[in-house]
Amino acid sequence: MSDPRVQSSRGECEIAVRHGGLTELGAGVLRVAPNAKTVMLAMDEAVQKPWGEQARASLEQAGFRVATIVLKADESHKCIAAVERVWAAMLQAGMQRSDSMVALGGGVIGDLAGFAGATYQRGIPLVMAPTTLLAMVDAAIGGKTAVNLPLPSGGLGKNMAGAFHAPAWVLCDVDTLGTLSPRDYRCGLAECVKHALIADPALLDWIAANHAAIEARQPSVLEDLVRRSAAIKAAVVSRDEFERGERAHLNLGHTFAHALEALLHDELRHGEAVAIGLVAAVAASKAAGWWPSADAQALAGTIAQLGLPTRVPKPVGAAALRAAMGFDKKAEGGRQRLVLLRGPGQPGVLTDPAAEVVAAGWSAVGAT
Ligand code: GLY
Repeated sequence: MSDPRVQSSRGECEIAVRHGGLTELGAGVLRVAPNAKTVMLAMDEAVQKPWGEQARASLEQAGFRVATIVLKADESHKCIAAVERVWAAMLQAGMQRSDSMVALGGGVIGDLAGFAGATYQRGIPLVMAPTTLLAMVDAAIGGKTAVNLPLPSGGLGKNMAGAFHAPAWVLCDVDTLGTLSPRDYRCGLAECVKHALIADPALLDWIAANHAAIEARQPSVLEDLVRRSAAIKAAVVSRDEFERGERAHLNLGHTFAHALEALLHDELRHGEAVAIGLVAAVAASKAAGWWPSADAQALAGTIAQLGLPTRVPKPVGAAALRAAMGFDKKAEGGRQRLVLLRGPGQPGVLTDPAAEVVAAGWSAVGAT
């Protein structure tokens, strides 16, 4: 399978999936930003040691002056103060509009550095070098950049300020997945399952058949997994860059997941909540009469083989979860929208789902 490509308003973007790919970073940046002299390498502090030097060396070898900034990758640091630090470093480095930003890290770094790159001098060429599975198959593709904002109520408004700024190139070096913690790695697998459910049922069978090699992070299996999964996201965002319709299908399981994350933020990571949310969404699809033969428990079996949770980890009332679902910022005009499946690979949006449909989803994951 060849590398996926995204068509966007900023042109075509290749998603290069390579093992050992960071050595090609400089040459790739030169291809997409031929007039750049300085590159800002923004990286997660956790990847600085294993991968930062390799990335910097490759950029320098291609003739760039490299400025670096190291960022913390947790949601509380995905804030405008961190973006101000990046902007200041870019000014300090004398960066021009033709220069380039490279984001080396997971989804938080991509969002943060991406937003700084999208706004510095109204936008400079952005190269994503994702180092987590979640970022390789999802966050780094499609041009969404953002920071969180403090809410008047005291909480954190996720991704409340941001911009669409399609990357010029995405480089997924699957070797970087080798230094990911098992938990972070598994969280990315949940998004791969989601992509398979919305667009490629054969990928779900492939994931089930290869779960041991996936668990062992075999490089050739990782390349196939990232390529196939990234291709699904690439196709969706190419057809709907600004989320006017189909892109919402990528939220399969996420309305359930966001409610779980709101109530169980200490217990569940995003990918774990998505894994549970997918089981709930398949059960809800059956209850809605959309997919009469849906087998949520079979899906739960596949997800469990990947080491991901499929049930709520502790008792949470379905009423509290239903209330938390109402706060999903993707709800439009006060109406609740739930992405469900009409069958394998056939997503759609159900508006204002009946209470029984939502309850069936929660019940399938042990929340009643
Ligand atoms: N992660 C969902 C999207 O990019 O639209």
